[in-house]
Amino acid sequence: MRTIRDLAALRARVRDWKAAGERVGVVPTMGALHPGHLSLVHTAKAACDRVIVTLFVNPKQFNSPEDLAKYPRTEATDAALLEPAGVDLLFAPDAASVYPPDFATRVTVAHLPEVLCGAHRPGHFDGVATVVTKLLLMTGADQGFFGEKDWQQLQIIRRLVADLNIPSQITGCPTLREADGLAMSSRNLRLSQSDRLAAPALYKAMEQAAAAIHNGTADQTALAAAEAAILRAGFSRVEYLERRGAEDLLPIDPATPRPSRLFAAAWLGEVRLIDNIPI
Ligand code: PAJ
Repeated sequence: MRTIRDLAALRARVRDWKAAGERVGVVPTMGALHPGHLSLVHTAKAACDRVIVTLFVNPKQFNSPEDLAKYPRTEATDAALLEPAGVDLLFAPDAASVYPPDFATRVTVAHLPEVLCGAHRPGHFDGVATVVTKLLLMTGADQGFFGEKDWQQLQIIRRLVADLNIPSQITGCPTLREADGLAMSSRNLRLSQSDRLAAPALYKAMEQAAAAIHNGTADQTALAAAEAAILRAGFSRVEYLERRGAEDLLPIDPATPRPSRLFAAAWLGEVRLIDNIPI
């Protein structure tokens, strides 16, 4: 596996692959890799002849400079995980080459970023949309792989790729969980020992609410019980816990059934955890 930081070198490599008729996949990441990221790599390997992983801690999607500074940077460990997974190329550009001083463009998707995480993280999804547009165009990948763990992000990416006619197929990959149900995330490492024990309560309460709704309990009743259970388990705050349409993320009218999901963000100490499941 080669690590490339330079766009011209990346493009030359991809041009050769495509000339040989090979299908190129990309898995964009911010590093600090865990098995959830690697599951995306495995899906990409199965679907494509060549797999690029991008590693770029995107400053434009952080809400504060402290958060950006705190983000773990573990490129050597990440590379050591990717090589045996069969990744062909690690693209790890530096921030100045992705965003030169005169950079002046922003990709903004309408509506989808206004709810859920977007309502609490102003500008976050513009940063994600801008960098994902760039990464898909820089790599020229035929297929991009993204986790359902970040469901809202996935819907925003699907929208921008369709709207901007970016010739990459977008594939969503299921959320990988720890044995106790906690969705894998690089943030889990920041949990204290006792908070780590409390953390699975989020998923458990969501599953119980989804089952109750399925069995006819009113949304409000099921969601109130779930929120109480999450707080009882030791979470300090539930930022949101909502049922919304799976694709448009709009509120659900119980009278008109359509695919929906339960979405949550909640705080355990200083750590913000998110999760989502189908109903
Ligand atoms: P990052 O948080 O590093 O995640 C990279 C990819 O891994 C995303 O598509 C995310 O949804 C997926 N992922 C994370 N945890 C997962 C899990 N437990 N199971 C399955 N997939 C999981 O998301 C980002 O980076 C950035 O916003 C990015 C898209 C790279 C743009 O900067």
